[in-house]
Amino acid sequence: FTIDASKKGAEIAPTMWGVFFEDINLGADGGIYAELVKNRSFEFFKPWMGWERKHKTFIEGQMQIKNRPDKPSNPRYLSIQLNNEKKGELGLVNEGFRGMGLKKGLTYDFSILYRVKKGNAQVHVELLNDKKAVVGQISSRSLSGSEWQKLEMNLVSAETVLKGKMAIWFSGEGELDVDMISLFPTDTWKGRKGGMRADMVQMLADMKPGFIRFPGGCIVEGFDLDNRYQWKKTIGPLEERQLIMNRWNIEFAHRPTPDYFQTFGLGFFEYFQLAEDIGAEPLPILNCGMACQFNSGELVALEDLDPYVQDALDLIEFANGDANSTWGRERVKMGHPEPFNLKFIGVGNENWGPQYIERLEIFKKAIKEKYPEIQIVASSGTSTEGDRFELLDKELRKMNIDIIDEHAYKSPSWLYENTSRYDSYDRKGPQIFVGEWASHTKNKGGDINVNNWLAALSESAFMTGLERNADIVRLTSYAPLFAHEDGWQWTPDLIWVDNLNIYGTPSYYVQKQFSTNRGTHLLQFDQKISGQDSLYASTVWDEQTKEIIIKVTNAGSSAVQHEVNILGAKKIGEKAKLSRMFTDDLEAMNSVKEAEKVAPVASEVAVDTKRKKLILSLPARSFSVYRISVK
Ligand code: AHR
Repeated sequence: FTIDASKKGAEIAPTMWGVFFEDINLGADGGIYAELVKNRSFEFFKPWMGWERKHKTFIEGQMQIKNRPDKPSNPRYLSIQLNNEKKGELGLVNEGFRGMGLKKGLTYDFSILYRVKKGNAQVHVELLNDKKAVVGQISSRSLSGSEWQKLEMNLVSAETVLKGKMAIWFSGEGELDVDMISLFPTDTWKGRKGGMRADMVQMLADMKPGFIRFPGGCIVEGFDLDNRYQWKKTIGPLEERQLIMNRWNIEFAHRPTPDYFQTFGLGFFEYFQLAEDIGAEPLPILNCGMACQFNSGELVALEDLDPYVQDALDLIEFANGDANSTWGRERVKMGHPEPFNLKFIGVGNENWGPQYIERLEIFKKAIKEKYPEIQIVASSGTSTEGDRFELLDKELRKMNIDIIDEHAYKSPSWLYENTSRYDSYDRKGPQIFVGEWASHTKNKGGDINVNNWLAALSESAFMTGLERNADIVRLTSYAPLFAHEDGWQWTPDLIWVDNLNIYGTPSYYVQKQFSTNRGTHLLQFDQKISGQDSLYASTVWDEQTKEIIIKVTNAGSSAVQHEVNILGAKKIGEKAKLSRMFTDDLEAMNSVKEAEKVAPVASEVAVDTKRKKLILSLPARSFSVYRISVK
């Protein structure tokens, strides 16, 4: 093969390799949002979900859930009658999402809203290990005051526990009301109080993603319109963020999640902040006036679409407006005077049919009139095949939408066969966002999709095709992003966690290999390498480091060698950097115990500087990234 380093092609968008975040598989609540208390405000559909009541002597009605109509966003609270109880006699135990992960020596922030309507009261908090032994505790002062107020206390865990719990005891005499019972670790991302799990954010930051798409996925659409994601209800004080049932609240999954709700502790402000923290462009997707067409298919009538469109306009103002604008002011109040520099907005997720097109037209007109610089992302449906996709694609092109979002959950063979898919796309038409995709391969039992090397290897081949077409494919993201080992609805997923641990799948490392070796411009081999002898390759130029980057997948079962001649360079470096993933075992997977069983291994290879040649020595079933410096 030959590469001419002087023939730089199109610029690769800085957004090219990004991440897709959805609160699925306990991704947000029970996942990256570090709150340990499940159902902290008793607002779940069953108010006692997650809580166990503890009485030394049972008195009917001593602890009651009450409802205040003046707080429609958070109506329920717990009312407790105290009859001189002592610590350990009357209280609650919270089970956490799938237990609570506790770390030895780490401080935990406990908080609670309370009012003492009569008498005096004390609150005692205990961290429990999996044998119910107390491994951390703290008691409050004597509490009083009939107005709602917040109590905050710290306690330290003496043990590391994978599935701990929290007990809270009430003592004293009189009447005590409580709400928003919360426990957070203090080792959150950037040490933010009430923040995110640092290990999960770090995995994202390590990918150096070009964008982060949020908040989904199907949760944008909802089962029905009531259940759709409404960003305005996810900002401002926590206790005013009205929770809803998660669209992924599923009783009959492999790991059932009938207790899956969205508390919105991770809301739109936090998503924007996360994007900023990890250097990714924010890419919010909004409901277009249509609920999930696989569920209810509920639609808002066209004449009633205004509030939905207004939500989009207001979101742009929230992200980019100054303190004089209504929604910009809300952002400033939340502690972010600088704009978030929103450039993209998605309208609809996996919606289709003429109903989608007519709603999208209305959004497009309103957004472009007020904010012509904002790029609109439109969904071309759930599938890359069939009439529905073709029709939608045609309509979206006709309306000259900025970016089309394609989704493809496909088999390894489909991915191999489609590495040239984008070669023939119209270069003058909309840009492409391959917004949700993954290789789906079954486990031995054939009942679930797994994140094995076969999946990741086929993804690496497909990604060489995306990269070769980076002039038209401007964004892409694997989906879904996160999954909790004890609570998931969808596999495969990029990153897996339990309450204490995290690991990236082989697919994660493939994604990371592309995003951290993005380069700035396309280069070309003298011939397209896309399937001949099971080889798939792409090459780019990095203007910052003056390097040629070659990515090559050998999907075959034999090792091969190829010579690459480098033209258009005065001198090339003596050593090329090589980062390679490979194993003979296509079923190999990573796990908590073997987190990097399939991960890149770095080395250096000699380059023939005189003849400007590099030998690619490619083991069977390998994915390799070479960086060659050019002087
Ligand atoms: O990624 C999981 C789901 O797949 C998303 O929520 C949806 O958009 C798609 O069908």
